[in-house]
Amino acid sequence: MQGVLCLVLLAIHGGAASFNLLVSGPELHRTLGLNAELRYVNNGTINDYALGFSVMIPEHIWDLYFTWQNLKPTPIPYSISFTVSNPEAMTIPQLNISRKGYIPTSEEVFRVVFQCTGKVSAEVELCMNMNFTMPPPFPDITHLALKRQKVCYKNNNTNSDTLMIADAMIVGAGNPFYIGVGCACAAVVLLAIFAVIFYLRTIKARRTDVIQ
Ligand SMILES: *[C@@H]1O[C@H](CO)[C@@H](O)[C@H](O)[C@H]1NC(C)=O
Ligand SMILES: *[C@@H]1O[C@H](CO)[C@@H](O)[C@H](O)[C@H]1NC(C)=O
Ligand SMILES: *[C@@H]1O[C@H](CO)[C@@H](O)[C@H](O)[C@H]1NC(C)=O
Ligand SMILES: *[C@@H]1O[C@H](CO)[C@@H](O)[C@H](O)[C@H]1NC(C)=O
Repeated sequence: MQGVLCLVLLAIHGGAASFNLLVSGPELHRTLGLNAELRYVNNGTINDYALGFSVMIPEHIWDLYFTWQNLKPTPIPYSISFTVSNPEAMTIPQLNISRKGYIPTSEEVFRVVFQCTGKVSAEVELCMNMNFTMPPPFPDITHLALKRQKVCYKNNNTNSDTLMIADAMIVGAGNPFYIGVGCACAAVVLLAIFAVIFYLRTIKARRTDVIQ
């Protein structure tokens, strides 16, 4: 009975607010060469698995594009902030949207631009912190932390060209994930087959014992 109640509440919650946050197929191909789309939040469901991964983005990539959309008319306020582990090596990343606002109700793209200072060489960890305030009946702040790593090189230009980004979020992306899951399933099936064979052999052996 309690289980049924929970399901009903979840359905109501899902009905109040829902949004997508993703890295589109072309963008994932541009940044990582992967033919996939990476959905961090899909129809309101957070992909913790994708968030946990870490991926190295090639040196020539300077910016990242994220696609998002509020799927319901209920407004969803967001706020975005960045933390950078080594401010001497990298400035706070720039966004081409406001740091506070509402998720657009039509599909839109925003851009995050990274810039090394060129003062020191360092591997920098950065984090894009996003808060989403879910509307009633379950007002709640959903916090997403998109972690990245990037190597900044010391050089003589203030406007550094040498920029490398490792995107902890983008990392988990697409195909490798599904391939990984596929392999895991195959391994489980194989184990199950071996277990059955072993079991049958054991039974056969026992029966043989009895007969003899
Ligand atoms: C999104 O989820 C809701 C339930 O929360 C469901 O009714 C709807 O069909 C889903 N939409 C898509 C595009 O999957
Ligand atoms: C997100 O929420 C947390 C806790 O509610 C707060 O500490 C943090 O400053 C917020 N971040 C932004 C970007 O608003
Ligand atoms: C931010 O950049 C993206 C990609 O260049 C663009 O599609 C979008 O319109 C820009 N948004 C704003 C508010 O300028
Ligand atoms: C960078 O500046 C240093 C002196 O500050 C100079 O010795 C070095 O040759 C310069 N490197 C380049 C690539 O210009």
